[in-house]
Amino acid sequence: MWSCYRKMDLRWSLVLCALAQVTCCGARSVPLQPLSFPNPLPRGCNDSDVLFFSGLALKHINADQQDGYVLGLNRVHDAWEHIQGSRGSLFYLTLDVLETSCHVLSRKDWTDCGGRPLYESIYGQCKAAFYVNKSQRILLLLAYNCTLRPVSRRKLLCPDCPFPSTTDFSDDGILKAATETLAKYNNESASKQYSLDKVTRVSRQWVSGPAYYVEYLIRESPCNKSQASSCPLQPSASAPVGFCHGSLIESLFKKYISVTCNIFKSQVQTPGSENSPAEHNPPHLPGGTPPPKENTAPSSSPAERKPRGSIQHLPAVDHEKPEDSQDKDQEIFPVQLDLTTNPLGGHLDISSIFIGPQKEQLVVLPFPKAPRSAECPGPARETSSLVLPP
Ligand SMILES: *[C@@H]1O[C@H](CO)[C@@H](O)[C@H](O)[C@H]1NC(C)=O
Ligand SMILES: *[C@@H]1O[C@H](CO)[C@@H](O)[C@H](O)[C@H]1NC(C)=O
Ligand SMILES: *[C@@H]1O[C@H](CO)[C@@H](O)[C@H](O)[C@H]1NC(C)=O
Ligand SMILES: *[C@@H]1O[C@H](CO)[C@@H](O)[C@H](O)[C@H]1NC(C)=O
Ligand SMILES: *[C@@H]1O[C@H](CO)[C@@H](O)[C@H](O)[C@H]1NC(C)=O
Repeated sequence: MWSCYRKMDLRWSLVLCALAQVTCCGARSVPLQPLSFPNPLPRGCNDSDVLFFSGLALKHINADQQDGYVLGLNRVHDAWEHIQGSRGSLFYLTLDVLETSCHVLSRKDWTDCGGRPLYESIYGQCKAAFYVNKSQRILLLLAYNCTLRPVSRRKLLCPDCPFPSTTDFSDDGILKAATETLAKYNNESASKQYSLDKVTRVSRQWVSGPAYYVEYLIRESPCNKSQASSCPLQPSASAPVGFCHGSLIESLFKKYISVTCNIFKSQVQTPGSENSPAEHNPPHLPGGTPPPKENTAPSSSPAERKPRGSIQHLPAVDHEKPEDSQDKDQEIFPVQLDLTTNPLGGHLDISSIFIGPQKEQLVVLPFPKAPRSAECPGPARETSSLVLPP
């Protein structure tokens, strides 16, 4: 079953679909014909089209999330292209990713988001199945799964760096840091007042006293400025409208408070608004093909969308492990993405993304494994081995 949303343009029609059931393929009663397409080809991880599709796949993964931070592409770890005759290509991409400092609700493109210092990095790997049909201008994330871990503090060798802390209020300092930094922001805000929605990340450090670095979502407060000091911190049904980074550093004689907030652009978007002003120039599709229209649509109708995958968070790997064991290293970021369990492949019905009555199927395979191309992994943006999955 597919639920689709078709975005039309004079030059472009970009189809954005959510795949509800990918488990269909292996178990289908339809008898499988022998595979009519050759095996997938390993692709170079620095090839411009591979980089383009990888960036777009990650963008669609980010658009799928309601929680957490925008993931940025650090490098392409592995790439396979399965050419499907006249139907186009199915890419199997393994992406090494890093959390950026943007919250996913900001709906910012990962290329517009800042990175994080090593000591607070969260990194990992995503696998994505991405379908490309250049002549029909279809660029479609079929499925993904990701696994993330914080950087290992043992390997970081920085005992004085801020260290992550739980986000609950078991430590009074966390709520204090959030409310005091938000009070500063509200005091400087001309009219609108904001209240705390949810603390999303905390780290602590000892400077000349306790220091707290907090990141939190805010929503519009029902109170106006003159009421601000007495405004209760009540739960509300309203959605978060912004995201703040605050720090509260205390010493014996002085308190340093700093805060920056980013108020999200309105997320109100109707499927009819084709020419959203939020669109900006996407990178160019290799091969002289004009770039597809930027889509911000996946966030527009969350109720209709079914997740195409999930992001799994695991704890840091802080224990010693045998460095020579390649197999063990592979398991550090377990990511399962199998569109079929049949080793010979299966069929995935994609008829609903095409206009017209004809039946269109893709041949899907279990996610290809090594040996991969000699040109993989590709060059990394953040080259520290601390944030590169093995
Ligand atoms: C895209 O899909 C259509 C419909 O299946 C097909 O006719 C066309 O050849 C495909 N184009 C490419 C470049 O794969
Ligand atoms: C609020 O802002 C005013 C000036 O904009 C400043 O004088 C005052 O100290 C601020 N109060 C707090 C609690 O930050
Ligand atoms: C703030 O709201 C209260 C109660 O709604 C009202 O009495 C007061 O005049 C308002 N103040 C301003 C500055 O709008
Ligand atoms: C994605 O991962 C989850 C568990 O982590 C798994 O249940 C699911 O089958 C995976 N998706 C695919 C398409 O393999
Ligand atoms: C990756 O490709 C770019 C541009 O095509 C090139 O400048 C760069 O040297 C390549 N990097 C590696 C590591 O191959």
